[in-house]
Amino acid sequence: MSFSAVELIIKKREHEVLTTDEINWLVDAYTKGVVADEQMSAMAMAILLNGMERREILDLTMAMIASGERLDFSGLSKPTADKHSTGGVGDKITLPLAPLVASYGVAVPQLSGRGLGHTGGTLDKLEAISGWQAGLSNTELYSQLAEVGAVVCAAGSGLAPADKKLYALRDVTGTVEAIPLIASSIMSKKIAEGTSALVLDVKVGSGAFMKTLDRAGELAKTLVQIGQDAGVKTSALLTDMSTPLGLKIGNALEVEESIEVLTGGGPADVIEITVELAREMLAHSGINDVDPAENLQNGKAMDVFRKMISAQGGDLDAELPKAKEFHTIRATGSGFISRLDALSVGVASWRLGAGRERKEDAVQFGAGVELHAQLGDSIEEGDALMTLYTDTPEKFERAIELASSAVDFSQQAPPKREMILGRVS
Ligand code: URA
Repeated sequence: MSFSAVELIIKKREHEVLTTDEINWLVDAYTKGVVADEQMSAMAMAILLNGMERREILDLTMAMIASGERLDFSGLSKPTADKHSTGGVGDKITLPLAPLVASYGVAVPQLSGRGLGHTGGTLDKLEAISGWQAGLSNTELYSQLAEVGAVVCAAGSGLAPADKKLYALRDVTGTVEAIPLIASSIMSKKIAEGTSALVLDVKVGSGAFMKTLDRAGELAKTLVQIGQDAGVKTSALLTDMSTPLGLKIGNALEVEESIEVLTGGGPADVIEITVELAREMLAHSGINDVDPAENLQNGKAMDVFRKMISAQGGDLDAELPKAKEFHTIRATGSGFISRLDALSVGVASWRLGAGRERKEDAVQFGAGVELHAQLGDSIEEGDALMTLYTDTPEKFERAIELASSAVDFSQQAPPKREMILGRVS
C-alpha cells in the first residue's frame, strides 16, 4: 500500500488522525529513503504541534520496532525485567539495580547507550572499569543472561533503525520535545529488546529532560500506555532530579559509588531509588515478598555484579582511573544548603571532561564532581563543598564558576527532599 507523504503531512497539520496503514507506510518509506528528510521534518513538527492519539503513538512505536530486529528471551527459564531512565545527573542506578534484581532470579537485559550532553551514559561509566567490553553478540547476550542473570551492554544498530534516523533528524529540527515522538522512540528500543517487564524512571527537575511534574507525568503516562498496549508489563516512577543523585558525578566516580551501594553503604538517595525500582521490577515478575534492600546489605547483589563485570572482561580488582588534577570549592557562607542545582553540577562535570560534546569525542574516565555535602546539610564557611576532577586543568575556570553557582544557603533547613514524586501504572 502506498500513500503520498505530502497528503499525510497535510492531514497531521490539519489535526487529523493517521491510520495504522499510513503510519506503517510512512516509517517504512522514511527508513528506505523514499520519504525525504525534509518531509519527515515537517511531519515531526506537525506531530509536535498537534499531537497524536494513543493508537497512533502505539502504531508509530510498532512501525519503528518492525524496521529492525526484535530479540526474544522467551526461551529463558526466568522472567525478564528491565529499567529505563530518562537520564539525570549522577544517575548511576543501573549499576547496582541490574545485579540486585538478578540476585532474586529475574533476568535483566539492559541495552544501553553512551552519553551525549550533561547526563552521561551507562556504557561510559562501565568502560571506566579496566578491560570491560560493551559490545556483545546476541548469542553472548543470551548466554550471559542465562548464566549470570544480568547484562548491561551496547544496544546494537539492528534495534529500531527507524528511530535512530528519526532521532538524528529531530535533533536538528527542534522536534525532540514532542511527547509522542519521545515516548515512541524510547519504547521502540525497549520493546525490541525483548523484555517482558519494564520500569521507567522518569526524572523531574532542572537536571532532567522534563523540567516540570506535569510534563514528566504526561510522558510517564504515554510510556506506560505504549508498554501495556504492546503486552509488556510496564509502570513508571517519577523521581526527583532537581539536585544530583548521590555524591559522585562522573564515570569512574559513579562506578565507585555504585560499589559502595552494592557493599551495603553509599548515599541514602541512591539506595532509595535503587530499592524502589527493584521493588517495581520484582513485582512485575511476581516477586512481592522480599525487601530488595537485603541483597544490597548481604553481598548477594555484589556477587552478581562481579560476575556480570568479569563476564564482559572487566577487572574489578584493578584500580579505577583517577583524574590528574583536582580543585576543591569551599563554602563562602554558613547555613543549610537550600539549593544544589543538578543542571549546573551536571554541566560542570561534563565540561571537566566526564561527558562528550560531539558523538565521536572520548570521555575522561576520572573527570567529574564529588560533592562533600547534599541538599539540606548544614555547612560552616570554609568547609569543603565539592571537589572537581579533570585531566585538563584549563577546564577548571568555567567549571568552578558553574559549580559554585549551583549552591545557595539559608538559615532555615529546607523541606526534606522527596525522592519519589509519583507512580504511574
Ligand atoms: N531518549 C530517546 O531514546 N529518545 C528520545 O526521543 C528522547 C530520549
